[in-house]
Amino acid sequence: MFRTTISAGAALVASLQLNLSAEVPKEWEEKAGGYLMENISPEGTLPGTVVAGTSKYMPDYWYDWTRDAALVMDVLVTRYIDGEKDLLPQLMNYFSLSIRHHNTPNLSGGDGEPKFNVDGTAFNLPWGRPQNDGPALRALTLIRLANQLLEEGQVGTAKELYEGMIHSDLDFVAEKWKDPSFDLWEEVCGEHFYTKMVQLNALTEGAKLSEYFGVSSDRYYREAADLERSLFQHFDHEKKRIIPSLNRTDDKDYKDQDLDSSVILAVLHTDKEMALNDFVINTAKVLKDTFYDLYPINRDGNPGIAIGRYPEDKYNGIDESEAHPWFLLTLAFGEYYHTLANLYEERGCIEISDISLPFFQELDPSLENSVEIQKFMPQFNMLVLKLRELGDAFVERARHHTTSEGRMSEQFDRNTGEQRGAENLTWSYANLIRVKFAKEYSSKCLNN
Ligand code: NOJ
Repeated sequence: MFRTTISAGAALVASLQLNLSAEVPKEWEEKAGGYLMENISPEGTLPGTVVAGTSKYMPDYWYDWTRDAALVMDVLVTRYIDGEKDLLPQLMNYFSLSIRHHNTPNLSGGDGEPKFNVDGTAFNLPWGRPQNDGPALRALTLIRLANQLLEEGQVGTAKELYEGMIHSDLDFVAEKWKDPSFDLWEEVCGEHFYTKMVQLNALTEGAKLSEYFGVSSDRYYREAADLERSLFQHFDHEKKRIIPSLNRTDDKDYKDQDLDSSVILAVLHTDKEMALNDFVINTAKVLKDTFYDLYPINRDGNPGIAIGRYPEDKYNGIDESEAHPWFLLTLAFGEYYHTLANLYEERGCIEISDISLPFFQELDPSLENSVEIQKFMPQFNMLVLKLRELGDAFVERARHHTTSEGRMSEQFDRNTGEQRGAENLTWSYANLIRVKFAKEYSSKCLNN
């Protein structure tokens, strides 16, 4: 494999000298928002359906995946919270369809079923099942909506969400979190950091909402405490990284580097404070450096670094050969850098430890030791600004590979940059909008 002498960090920082537009072009965001909405309840599907993508053949993504649907609907919840009240009917359609899925007998024998046909019936072909992150993600999306409705005084509708779906999803999580299941990439069976993080977050957020409705939360808190303890097993103190999967029973023996971008998604989809964790920061750095070396496209002189699922990945978007970088993950790295910047600004302090030092040395090569940088020190603003610029560089990398209309598929070719895999992947659009939210969050905080 062709290797360069210039490091990923140096290349990423150097890419900032290139013609990087500081802001995500508004026009692209607006278009992406429109493409996302087109994939919700499209013609020929039940109301509330989120198709994973528009491609119906090689690959066929014309299904409603529980995970993708929850993550996409979560974007609608944020927009609803931000004032787009006319989105409520779409969200309620999603809720009704979720109940229907819950009541549909399927091959997983319950809520861990990964995907459904667009007419609401069960998908009965072989698949990696169960996938137990789905019910937790759905609960989290509906809990955020219910909390907002409570704030608006819409207690009845919030209660409907709780009794109709959230409660059973919480029971599912409380009962099943110890069971092995397939990971979010639908390939590896075992215990997963991503799945456990969303399960833990669902239990703790769900416990609070249960209390509000006078339902006992003891079981949720008890299971959450055990689950939290089991998460520590994913912290590898030698590698100083998070191990994505443990106790695997799959045959993906080529996936052996214990390095997976799902770790970054896990913190973005749950407890954002975890973004600051040294092991997470170091995992992000190692992932970024690894993908920089792995994908020739990253050395084409354009800004930003393209990110994939995991280095040994073979899924090329249709079948197995050599995998490519993914739009949604490249954008998630953009969101991660902006999230770090937001958290540091809120705290007014950047703590750099021996473990996170290499990550920060890329931003400021003069750093030599672990140190606490307080807001009044000139270095503070410089580091926050660099994090934001680098966040934008990831977005710029994704943007560079979109079509002239700003459309995004699942992957883009590691050599040529051409789009690969399912067209119009709804989750790709959702992640662009999430970066926009992260950036808006920062300006909201600064203006307060
Ligand atoms: C394959 C991805 O690995 C999985 O995470 C996703 O849910 C489906 N495609 C549908 O987008």
